[in-house]
Amino acid sequence: MPISTALPRLLPLAALAVAALGVIACQSSTPAPADAPPAAPTPPVAPAAPKAGVTKSSFGTLADGTAVDVYTLTNAHGVEMRATNYGAIIVSLKVPDKTGALGDVVLGYNKVDDYVKDSPYFGAIVGRYGNRIGGARFTLDGKTYQLTANDGVNTLHGGLKGFDKLLWTATPVTRPDGAALQLSLTSKDGDEGYPGTLQLTVTYTLTDANALVIDYLAKTDKATPVNVTSHSYFNLAGEGVGTIDGHVMQIHADKYTPVAKGLIPTGELASVEGTPLDFRTPTAIGARIASTHPQMVLGGGYDHNWVTNWPAGMAADKLAPVLRVTEPTTGRTLEVESTEPGVQFYTGNFLDGHLVGKSNRPYVKRGAFCVETQHFPDSPNQPNFPSTIVKPGADYQSRTVFRFGVDK
Ligand code: BGC
Repeated sequence: MPISTALPRLLPLAALAVAALGVIACQSSTPAPADAPPAAPTPPVAPAAPKAGVTKSSFGTLADGTAVDVYTLTNAHGVEMRATNYGAIIVSLKVPDKTGALGDVVLGYNKVDDYVKDSPYFGAIVGRYGNRIGGARFTLDGKTYQLTANDGVNTLHGGLKGFDKLLWTATPVTRPDGAALQLSLTSKDGDEGYPGTLQLTVTYTLTDANALVIDYLAKTDKATPVNVTSHSYFNLAGEGVGTIDGHVMQIHADKYTPVAKGLIPTGELASVEGTPLDFRTPTAIGARIASTHPQMVLGGGYDHNWVTNWPAGMAADKLAPVLRVTEPTTGRTLEVESTEPGVQFYTGNFLDGHLVGKSNRPYVKRGAFCVETQHFPDSPNQPNFPSTIVKPGADYQSRTVFRFGVDK
């Protein structure tokens, strides 16, 4: 059954609204009024509780001398995320384990140079079209657009210079639910072959409930495909700590979109029943990863799009449960919810140990997994898939929540 092509990206604008713009450090203190009585001596204080907010520091320079920044977002429990304005990349994310110890659960580097040199999209926002468009072309309103092919004959994650390789404008913002950073860019008409000038804003909010909320808002002046997602590589045991085979995954999906050679979808929505892609009950990621099922051979492991089960009666602009993953040794858990109809679950099959990360450890094959909430790959060429075409006057809006916790 074809699913509705009308799954919109319609979050109420109010849900995305930010309270104030242009604040460089959200940490603030109220000055005493000029006529206030002299302050009483301050008693000795206990070690300071982590101060929620956003601070900025240098992340190095690009080859042309442009300075790149990194912003540190901290919540009330000391959970900390760092993101740079180069590629809107999340460079670190420290969350507690079952003993309360913070550990960095995303792969990445310490300086911008390393991202420029060699990065398989670590932590970046990918677009204008996350994942693949077959043959690097599509036809819209009778016109065929040729895109940049950067993955054999196909285009992947926006082309040669996708959003992961652009410098974004970063602005710390105040939101009622936590520390937030807003990142914006303009992608010109014709960039990588895509039609229309696209203005995109991505807001990262690190909430005091230990969730990372990612809001996407885009506008175009011509009809164009848009499919933007976050490409963090997670290892809940810690970045660089072995493989993710022992993580236990549950994906709330009865169906997936099978692929052919080159990882381009065939156009079917197939049942996961009886395949290694059936994660409807929690299963170790490594349990069936070496299966000879044709889809696993094509992907070299998991590298597929699952079709999220949409709760009956729930509007398409609401957050649907996507997946839950746990790491038994640390107890860390990650739950993902999204307004997107699909998720690319990719198990780092192309990592091979040649990239050495921020704590000097090699990033080995299957040393991390990505959870890329998205519309389906190759949608512009697949009439049965929900549409990814965004038109002038109808904004692209999308939200995904990554909620961190512990199983004790
Ligand atoms: C894709 C993989 C690709 C990886 C890039 C994933 O989103 O599905 O096929 O190799 O990104 O590193």
